[in-house]
Amino acid sequence: MDGNGRWAELRGQPRLLGHAEGAKSVRAVVTAARELGLEALTLYAFSVQNWSRPEDEVLGLMQLLYDYLEEELPTMLKNGVRLRSIGDVERLPGFVRERLEKTEDATKAGSGMVLTLALSYGGREEIVRAAREIAEDVSRGQLAPDQVTEEEFERRTFTRDLPPLDLIIRTSGEMRLSNFLLWQAAYAELVVVETPWPEFRKEELVDCLELYGRRERRYGLTSEQLAARGELSSP
Ligand code: IPE
Ligand code: MG
Repeated sequence: MDGNGRWAELRGQPRLLGHAEGAKSVRAVVTAARELGLEALTLYAFSVQNWSRPEDEVLGLMQLLYDYLEEELPTMLKNGVRLRSIGDVERLPGFVRERLEKTEDATKAGSGMVLTLALSYGGREEIVRAAREIAEDVSRGQLAPDQVTEEEFERRTFTRDLPPLDLIIRTSGEMRLSNFLLWQAAYAELVVVETPWPEFRKEELVDCLELYGRRERRYGLTSEQLAARGELSSP
């Protein structure tokens, strides 16, 4: 979710107003994703690096996050949305952490869609964390070096319980991943739209999903190989 600040600045407004409008997009996109039948949606709401932003902006974002969690709980429950978070959430202020835990707990039976908020999240930090866990297991003799496989690594990521990452949408035109789900992004499709996040709503999500549907995901194979596979697996 990018472009809140620029959206506001373009209107001569404080950045926080852009974040507030962006929070409306979160509500709209989460509802739309659920209606469209998505299994999982992960929102990059706050990166580890975002802690270095001006203090009032950080606090404003924390307050918006708190308000979102509080106000949306009934809707999440009604729609069977299960809320989770990934990242170094211990760093979040107490009032947000508490609200987050409550929401995760209250929605844990939701079977409609998993909504994951990436909070104080960093892809490199996640990879280092997994590597450290593996190193500890190896040094304790619980894991042999040749048992360090992709699967073992995957089991130590924050997203181990989520389906494979299919599509990454970045709003506001920047052509980079900015430390988001680096391990998981290996074969994800990327869609970058010029639309700033505060203007990204259901219609824009549908457009991105349509674009995604027209992509050919080859995973290193050739188109011919994929076609042959399709014939094999068709009834
Ligand atoms: C939202 O957009 C991302 C969050 C950290 C919530 P930005 O705040 O990065 O907006 P720009 O990039 O300054 O326009
Ligand atoms: Mg930005």
